[in-house]
Amino acid sequence: MRISVIGCGYLGAVHAAAMAKIGHDVVGIDVDRAKIGALSEGRAPFYEPGLDELLAEATESGRLRFSTDMADAADARLHFVAVGTPQAPGGNAADLTYVDAAVASLIPVLAEGSLVVGKSTVPVGTAARLAAWIADAAPGSALAWNPEFLREGFAVEDTISPDRLVYGLPDDPDAATEARGLLDEVYAAAVERGTPVVVSDYATAELVKTAANAFLATKISFINAMAEIAEATGADVTRLADAIGHDARIGRRFLNAGVGFGGGCLPKDIRAFTARAEELGRGDSVAFLKEVDAINLRRRQRLVDLVVEELGGSVYERNVAVLGLAFKPDSDDVRDSPALDVAVRLLGLGANVLATDPQAVANARLRHPQLFYVPSPRNALVDADAVVIVTEWREYRELDPIAVREMVRNPVVIDGRNCLDADAWRAAGWTYRGLGRP
Ligand code: UDX
Repeated sequence: MRISVIGCGYLGAVHAAAMAKIGHDVVGIDVDRAKIGALSEGRAPFYEPGLDELLAEATESGRLRFSTDMADAADARLHFVAVGTPQAPGGNAADLTYVDAAVASLIPVLAEGSLVVGKSTVPVGTAARLAAWIADAAPGSALAWNPEFLREGFAVEDTISPDRLVYGLPDDPDAATEARGLLDEVYAAAVERGTPVVVSDYATAELVKTAANAFLATKISFINAMAEIAEATGADVTRLADAIGHDARIGRRFLNAGVGFGGGCLPKDIRAFTARAEELGRGDSVAFLKEVDAINLRRRQRLVDLVVEELGGSVYERNVAVLGLAFKPDSDDVRDSPALDVAVRLLGLGANVLATDPQAVANARLRHPQLFYVPSPRNALVDADAVVIVTEWREYRELDPIAVREMVRNPVVIDGRNCLDADAWRAAGWTYRGLGRP
C-alpha cells in the first residue's frame, strides 16, 4: 500500500522504516530539514538499536523515501500522523500544535477514499474533533485512531511485532468497515500471525494509550513508594519486588525501584491525563496520578541526598562521577531524564560533576551546556569522590568493582537503578548505597 508517515521523530521514523520493511511503499514527511536529510541518506537522526540497518535496507529496496514537502504524500492511501504531543509550556496539558498543524497541512492533499490514522498520544476527545474537521474540509476521507505502544530501545521490534493492535474507528458503520479493511491490510503480516486486534470507538482507543502509560507509571511509583518505606525500616525493596512479582497477578516487570521514570512519554502523559480529566470534571478519578508524579520526582532528590550524606554533608568541590544521562539504556533520549536531572542538581550544590553516557552526551549538552561532559566512564571515575549510576547501561552494570576501586579517590557508589551486585561491590571495599536497599 502507498502510505505516508507525518512526523519522523522517535515514533514516526521507526514506523516509516518498519512499514517499508513489511512491503509498503512509504514516504516519511517532516518539517525538520536536518532530520529528513539524515533519513534520506539512510541514517537515523537519533540512537535506536537496529534502526540504521532497517533504514538502509528499506531505502535500498526503493520503498522508503523522505521529504519535507507534504505534496509528496498526496498519492498515499493511508496517512499516519506520528508527530509529538509534548507538555504544553507553563501547564500540564498536552500541546496539540503539531497534531493540528499536521492535519491542516494534510487536508489539501487528501485524495478521495484516503484514511488518516492517528498514532500520536492525544487527550481523549481529540480524534472526534479531528474527524469532524476532516469530514468538513476533506469529505472523501476518514479518520482512525491507532495508538502506538513502542518502547524506545526496542522500537523496531515493537513496531514490526506489536503485542496488540488497537483500531479506534468512526461511528458510521460503512466508514468503520472501510477503515478496518485498510488497517488490516497495512498490518496484514501481524494480523495473520494472530496479533490481538482490539476494535473500538475513538475515545476508547485514545484512552487505551493514556491508561496503559498511567498504569505503567503507577506500577513504578508503587514500588518506589515501597522503597521509601524500606528505607525507613531496613527492608530491601529489590527482594520485596522479587517476592511480590512471583504472583502472576502482579508480575515482576516494571517493578524496578530506583531513581524513577522519565522520557518523552510517561511523565507528560500522566500530567496530560490529569489535565484532561479535570477538564472533563473527573479530576478526582485520576487524582492519584499527581501522587504518582510526586513520588517519582522525590526519588531524584533522595538520590542526591544520599550522595551528600555519603560525602559527609556536602558535595561542594567534590568530584562526582555521574554514569548515565539518558532516561533509560539503549536510548539517547534525555527528555525528562532523571539521570540528567540528578547531574544538574549535584552541580547546583557545587559538586564537580563529570557526566558521561554512551549515547546521550550530545543531547544532554544541548539542554545543559553548563555540565562538564566526558567521553568515557574512565574519564569520570579517575579521582572520583563518589560514583553515581543513574542509567543502567550494560557497560555500567558490568563495571568491575575491583578495577574501578583503583581509579577513584573515595570508594563510594550510589546505585540509582539498583542494578549492581551490592555484595560484590562491598567485598571490593566500596561503600554501596542503593535506593530502598539497606
Ligand atoms: C513507554 C511505554 O513503556 C511504551 O509502551 C509507550 O509507548 C511509551 O512510553 P518508554 O518511554 O520508551 O516507553 O520507556 P519505558 O521502558 O516505559 O521506561 C520509562 C521509564 O521508566 C524509564 O525512565 C525507565 O528507566 C523507568 N522504569 C521502567 C523504572 O524506573 N522502573 C521500571 O521497573 C521500569
